[in-house]
Amino acid sequence: KIYYDSDADLKHLKDKTIVFLGFGNQGAAQAQNLRDSGIPNDQIIIANRKDDYAADAKSKGFTVEHDFSKAAEVADVVFLLVPDQVQPRVFNESFSPKLKSSATVVVASGYNVFYKLLDFKPTLDVVMVAPRMIGSSVRSLYVKGKGFPCFVSVEQDGTGSALPIALALSRAIGATKTGAISSSVREETAMDLFAEQALWPNIIALFREAYSVLKEAGCTDEALVYEMWMSKEPAEIFQAAAEDGFIRQLKHHSIVSQYGQLSGASKIDGTPIRAHFKDILHNQVLNGKFQREFTKIEADLEKEGDANPLNRLYTLSEESELAQGEQRVRARLGLS
Ligand code: NAI
Repeated sequence: KIYYDSDADLKHLKDKTIVFLGFGNQGAAQAQNLRDSGIPNDQIIIANRKDDYAADAKSKGFTVEHDFSKAAEVADVVFLLVPDQVQPRVFNESFSPKLKSSATVVVASGYNVFYKLLDFKPTLDVVMVAPRMIGSSVRSLYVKGKGFPCFVSVEQDGTGSALPIALALSRAIGATKTGAISSSVREETAMDLFAEQALWPNIIALFREAYSVLKEAGCTDEALVYEMWMSKEPAEIFQAAAEDGFIRQLKHHSIVSQYGQLSGASKIDGTPIRAHFKDILHNQVLNGKFQREFTKIEADLEKEGDANPLNRLYTLSEESELAQGEQRVRARLGLS
């Protein structure tokens, strides 16, 4: 089901105190959109630690509360818009014990709800309003009077009114203008983590191996880097896929290219890829294995140098022929 502005009524937000925990990519965009949709400024509180984000919220005329427990006590609605890995600690320690029994908790990503990392009292409403759009565009599209794709769901209906409240909030942030798609934290998490852990790793590996094979055939770094991504042709192909259709965009290519791509794809045996993808979906994403592993290394992500596992992965990736070749080209072109 797709919900539009006409399915949502802002009266469900009347006199409600709406707290945004976080004023970053999504928090800044959603809070400003909500205010511009007519929710009075004195109903909005930005709960933020003392940092540049808090200063930004103040400069935009918002009331900022640094004491999270105080913000929790007055919240009728709380948007959790700090990074996903930060949410469990902040919410469980400062918000959960203080929230009103009938409050609505809004997440913009399914992760913490799907993996049950947040402590919700059963009387609360828990909803997902998850823009499929980076924060700066959530704001700029709203300012232009345009919408953006968004997933919406009710995960816990403590008050019996969670859906109308979720739709009113979606409308207030500008998410029902072009339609908010009914979804769930399971679906959102499965698709998000699958794309991150199955689809894109394979795309990275395909480019890496293609680079090495063409290098062996005598192609230069310059030619390869431009042919494969720096010309921005792949970005244009995806743009055309969004506009014309995933397969139909092929019509923009030469006949030699169309024949080569379609006949090549038809000859690839999808069975091993499908088995690999199923393994990641079921044995890594849906069963929580990745989440448990990530929790173990999370604290190390704050460390410097090689003690940080993400830095080690970057170092390893930079050793590939593709990355080394690109570095040479960028150095020769004077690019950073
Ligand atoms: P962000 O990284 O921009 O968050 C920054 C905010 O978090 C600031 O207000 C900062 O003060 C606060 N913060 C950071 N570390 C903190 C800590 N240790 N303790 C207390 N506050 C802290 O977050 P972003 O990207 O806006 O993500 C928020 C939510 O939106 C997440 O659930 C994310 O998955 C979701 N989302 C993000 C999208 C994006 O484009 N970035 C797209 C769709 C959903």
